[in-house]
Amino acid sequence: MMDFKGKVVWLTGASSGIGEALACALAAQGAQLVLSSRRVAELERVKELCKLQDHNCLILPFDLCDTSGVDKLTSLIVSKFGKIDLLINNGGISQRSLARDTALEIDRRLMETNYFSAVALSKSVLPQMIKQGSGHIATVSSISGKFGFFLRSAYSASKHALHGFFESLRLEVHPYNIAITLICPGKINTAIALNAINEKGEKNNKEAFSRFKGLSASECAAQIIRAIQKNKVEVFIGGKELRAIRIKRFFPGLFFRLILRQKIE
Ligand SMILES: NC(=O)c1ccc[n+]([C@@H]2O[C@H](COP(=O)([O-])OP(=O)(O)OC[C@H]3O[C@@H](n4cnc5c(N)ncnc54)[C@H](OP(=O)(O)O)[C@@H]3O)[C@@H](O)[C@H]2O)c1
Repeated sequence: MMDFKGKVVWLTGASSGIGEALACALAAQGAQLVLSSRRVAELERVKELCKLQDHNCLILPFDLCDTSGVDKLTSLIVSKFGKIDLLINNGGISQRSLARDTALEIDRRLMETNYFSAVALSKSVLPQMIKQGSGHIATVSSISGKFGFFLRSAYSASKHALHGFFESLRLEVHPYNIAITLICPGKINTAIALNAINEKGEKNNKEAFSRFKGLSASECAAQIIRAIQKNKVEVFIGGKELRAIRIKRFFPGLFFRLILRQKIE
């Protein structure tokens, strides 16, 4: 079991929702945290909320759509803390638009934010983890990484792509003592639907009321942390919505008929 005391964790999407809850839970366990997202003021708020200080926290804001500067960020982390034990690719954005109406540039934006950023950050930290002789990369996918849903074509595609990449990477980095965990949350009570983008790339700003029946972000964070500690390859976090994954696997025809009847939010 990984003990987080003194471990250096780079966390994206740290300014809200699951990322914020992860930051607080990891800080409480004594981790040194690198917090990333676009909004510096929100990252500062999370730093204070988690009672982190300058000696055990670094705020590195950047846009996941532009990863051209990530190697510089990796160097900054190594020069401050001397190592990177865990990268958590958590930052992401959802979608609420029909595939036929969605501009290709919006499909690409979702892929950049949710998929290529995780690829770029992982490639950037790998040389340091190989040098250290250890490391762990955990990536937050979704149950949408296992099946498609209305209004989520590019979101779901970006999450499916993560599985292909990280399942392959897992095999390649195993000899270097580097672990890969894929995390598939179901319904978690965060602002993800409000923050989702529409066919023009504008903020959705519509609530998904089913979120209030979902797990809390802090319960989700606790389960993510347990999965990382136990070195799980893949973990599903949520409630009865997780049944859809098994139904699709064993009864794809039935799955299609059932999913057609689901409420669209
Ligand atoms: N909530 C759910 O039901 C659910 C279910 C399955 C999977 N997930 C996944 O969980 C992860 C976290 O989502 P959440 O539910 O916590 O939603 P959230 O509250 O909307 O948080 C999203 C985080 O990603 C960051 N982010 C978004 N776009 C970014 C960009 N272009 N550059 C940098 N950072 C960006 C946001 O920070 P800034 O706005 O400050 O940049 C924020 O910290 C996502 O990968 C999501 O796909 C969530």
